[in-house]
Amino acid sequence: TLPRQVRVVEVGPRDGLQNEKVRVPTEQKIHFIRLLAEAGYSEIEVTSFVSPRAIPQLSDASEVMTGLRDLPAALRLTALVPNLKGMERALAAGLRSVAVFTAASDSFTRHNINATVAESLAQFRPVLALAQREGVRVRGYISTVFGCPYEGRVDPRRVLAVALELLEMGVAELSLGDTIGVATPNQVVEVLDLLLNEGGIPLERLAVHFHDTRGTALANVLAALQMGVSCVDSSAGGLGGCPYAPGASGNLATEDLLYLLHGMGIETGVSLEQVVRATRFIATVLDHPPTSKYYLAATAQ
Ligand code: HMG
Ligand code: MG
Repeated sequence: TLPRQVRVVEVGPRDGLQNEKVRVPTEQKIHFIRLLAEAGYSEIEVTSFVSPRAIPQLSDASEVMTGLRDLPAALRLTALVPNLKGMERALAAGLRSVAVFTAASDSFTRHNINATVAESLAQFRPVLALAQREGVRVRGYISTVFGCPYEGRVDPRRVLAVALELLEMGVAELSLGDTIGVATPNQVVEVLDLLLNEGGIPLERLAVHFHDTRGTALANVLAALQMGVSCVDSSAGGLGGCPYAPGASGNLATEDLLYLLHGMGIETGVSLEQVVRATRFIATVLDHPPTSKYYLAATAQ
């Protein structure tokens, strides 16, 4: 049976903007996030406290946070942190929720954060310890769950091992990333079945994060919903991709996700029309049109 409610985590300001060629001015990022905040999300991933050399697009993370200070505390603002330095910067900027990120394949992790998977997990331990002391929630991303740009197919048992280690460290929620958008629904079922039934991971600790590179993201969402997953990441307009994953295109578009969910009678609390407004704004700043099908249909009229 399908969940009656789905929590949609908006990742456009982070996963979307990290991969845009145009440098979006800080003020415009803040305005975009504020428009998104009005849509009724419970969580928005707003930026990353990573090396400015790795992701120059998000080097204004602290300034973005300053511009969001007055948003209601009930809206969870999250930022990526790769290491202790990132965690300290995030705390200084007032974050109460962060996300660590690793993968199920070593070559991707090496390109993305200059570490093996095992090394990355070791780096997260002090991050988690600090978060625990400060009462900060930590989400854990696992990338390349369904395939790696450098290694090809990924063994679901590697995903399970990484998932169990992140949970053991104290991560509140795992987000399973199809980084390069290669997954098909049968793979989603296979991985979720392993994590839930063999790994004993509770459903409410799992989220799914699909990129739509090959057009399978919504089909994969439906497979995940049928397995009981009720937290889905998406990006306004379908912006996004990971610059360290060649060929990765945009995330699943929030508008397309909301259209599907609402049409199926599944509540999200998020206003589709307000997300369209936010996308319409950010589209004026970017050098290409958004890829969301719903957005394109809605704005063509
Ligand atoms: P490194 O070069 O190994 O790091 O990079 P280092 O510790 O040797 O430090 C090198 C320099 O970076 C030093 O500066 C550090 O101070 C600085 P220098 O002394 O040379 O001037 N530095 C930092 N500066 C600011 N904030 C920090 C920080 N850490 C070090 N936190 C590192 C390792 C992890 C830092 C780097 O590789 C990095 O920042 N990578 C981030 C890559 C990234 O953000 N990728 C995209 C997000 S992941 C994604 O999109 C996938 C996801 O959406 C899920 C999915 O779709 O699968 C989440
Ligand atoms: Mg992503």
